[in-house]
Amino acid sequence: MPRVASTVFPFEIRLDRSSAVTLDRQIADAIRSAILSGELLPGDHLPAIRTLAAQVGVARATLDAAYGILVQEGWITATPGRGSFVSRVPPKSANFEKVPTIDHDPATMVPKNLNHEAHFCERSLSALLPQKNIPLAVVTTSDDMSPGRNFRAITARLAKRNTDFLMYTMPEGLLELREQICKVIGRLRGIKCTPDQIIITSGSQAGFAMCMRLLFNPGDKVWFEDPSYPLMRAVAHFNRIQEINVPVDEHGLVVDEGLRMAPDAKGCFITPSHQCPLGMLMSMSRRRQLLQWAKDNGAWIIEDDYDSELRYGGNLPFPSIQGMDTTGANVIYIGTFSKMLFPGYRLGYVIVPKSLINIFRGYRLISDRQGNELKQATVAEYMREGLYEGHVRRMRQGFEERRNLLLKLCREELSEWGEIMSGDQGMHVVFKFANQSIDDLQVQNACLQEGIEARAISFFYTEQPPIKGLMLGFGFFKSDQIVAAVRRIGFVLRSKFARYQV
Ligand SMILES: Cc1ncc(COP(=O)(O)O)c(C=O)c1O
Repeated sequence: MPRVASTVFPFEIRLDRSSAVTLDRQIADAIRSAILSGELLPGDHLPAIRTLAAQVGVARATLDAAYGILVQEGWITATPGRGSFVSRVPPKSANFEKVPTIDHDPATMVPKNLNHEAHFCERSLSALLPQKNIPLAVVTTSDDMSPGRNFRAITARLAKRNTDFLMYTMPEGLLELREQICKVIGRLRGIKCTPDQIIITSGSQAGFAMCMRLLFNPGDKVWFEDPSYPLMRAVAHFNRIQEINVPVDEHGLVVDEGLRMAPDAKGCFITPSHQCPLGMLMSMSRRRQLLQWAKDNGAWIIEDDYDSELRYGGNLPFPSIQGMDTTGANVIYIGTFSKMLFPGYRLGYVIVPKSLINIFRGYRLISDRQGNELKQATVAEYMREGLYEGHVRRMRQGFEERRNLLLKLCREELSEWGEIMSGDQGMHVVFKFANQSIDDLQVQNACLQEGIEARAISFFYTEQPPIKGLMLGFGFFKSDQIVAAVRRIGFVLRSKFARYQV
């Protein structure tokens, strides 16, 4: 299995644009050095040309030329349709004894004797950085849309008796919070569980890590939606799971395709109530089909339900798959407070079948011991007083108004480049380019230079993306900021991407 996914894990290459050495040669030299130093290993999959070109900030032709140099010199091989790989047999000229280091500071030397995936973590850092707190980031905090006065009052009140919450305690987390999650999230998302099935985590990311580590072994086949959330895929990759990239259509994951590709897979990670990033709902018949497959094969369905409390146009939120699993045996539900409260609060939970309770509790104990009970008590109280549900209602209303504004502005200002895809829930919409030969990663970078976050949809795909577009968040920004941001995107498109106008 290749170690470097083609879309997600480019490594850092610093260019000296004032140097007499051409950019393609500099890039080729940097990759060659990474191979010689062991940062890249034989068989590693190099990032796709388009991805790395956008990351490094050069034209695709330059990157193409750099890869060409490396192929010619024997450092890498290129297989049409599959991508480029570090050669299993290095060129004769390779001298691994004399590693060319740029500087000899011990702190920057490449360490040896590491876990095979250690360098993968290093590479992930630059490729998976969070969005900046600027329009139109998907999730951030704001004065008017994040919990305010009431939440602060509860925090202050509980902080006065903080010694109640500073002991070693149970790894699954505070009972009061688990009870509230059962009641409140039960009502909002249609989940069915008892408090003992809930393990509090420090967010979905910790839940992904638990599931990948506990439910699967290296080499196991697991279905993933393609496109999907790169930070979740990174955990799969880190755990050496064999990722089966199953396409999605307007009804969500194409289960028939999963069955064709890997009927014997051990599980499936899925965002059924708001596909990440495209935004569609998974239809009831597909959900039933997936549940039946899981039941028949003893496979796990891991449901990432990250922002589905928010549905607009008078439609009720679509219930979770967890609540549809009549056997209660196959679904692991991953929930988070990152979206509805604060991303930096780092609080989430997993809901597991009864058979997994002690396995997950034990894992929390040995991996992280326990969570912060003061924070858990604060959220439990916020829920107990009915404030959480009030906050969700207020968010739904405020977000709907901002979403409508964004849709109107996209129609008025950007229609010559594309349109918003369907989807009536969550915290972002997808603006799909009409001319699919545009490079959305380049648009993303150009927008960022103008102070706008607009994540490219290509970022979420593993291979050549069938959809190019931008992910636009709307919830946490005031009307004038949304207006200014859409106009700015229009300016970027007109000034730099005029040839893709339709
Ligand atoms: C698909 C998806 N799942 C989960 C999360 C939340 O992650 P966490 O709870 O680790 O903050 C996000 C955040 O952007 C997301 O996009």
